[in-house]
Amino acid sequence: TVLRVAAISGSLRRASANTGLIRAAAEICGESIPGLHIDHVDISELPLLNTDLEAGGRFPPAVEAFRDKVRAADCFLFASPEYNYSISGPLKNALDWGSRPPNCWADRAAAMLSASGGSGGSRSQYHIRQVGVFLDIHFINRPEVFTKAHLPPRKFDADGNLIDSETKEQTNGGALLVRWTEQIVTNSKCESH
Ligand code: FNR
Repeated sequence: TVLRVAAISGSLRRASANTGLIRAAAEICGESIPGLHIDHVDISELPLLNTDLEAGGRFPPAVEAFRDKVRAADCFLFASPEYNYSISGPLKNALDWGSRPPNCWADRAAAMLSASGGSGGSRSQYHIRQVGVFLDIHFINRPEVFTKAHLPPRKFDADGNLIDSETKEQTNGGALLVRWTEQIVTNSKCESH
């Protein structure tokens, strides 16, 4: 089976640690799980949400392209920093654009990673889960990966590449995402009979 994972980073920084976590997951999971493709979906070109931009029943081209990528994915991987105890603004903006009717996120499995300051991003992850309830995203519960990006030992190089072996092991949660996605696909098929 081929599983297409749309991976979204909540940080737009060039040397983002969270985007680095996605690159590491793509490399590690891509090597160890045949058929798993993790593609980073860039959210930096999305305009700030404003429903006036939907006038005439069309989304702006950047939003349309983003929604197409979300729709085409089998499951999702989110990597986001915590900003002031919550979701990053860019990620919330992307979640909201994808949620405009018809909701593009529905009924897919998702996993989450975060690199942040003192909390490692735990508070933001629980806020993302809460948003996911309404969007009908099925977040897996384990493994929980909270990376304290700025505490020693050094986990990322100057370009945001993951260099810490313990975190690399944690990001290898791809097998779990595969299992969940297969379960969801099976359950969806049962429901349609
Ligand atoms: C932060 N940071 C942060 N960290 C944390 O653990 N809890 C928090 O509430 C906040 N709040 C916060 C607000 C704002 C506006 C900024 C810019 C930063 C720190 C932040 O999560 C950390 O620098 C991450 O490493 C940034 O992720 P990227 O850009 O490296 O992916």
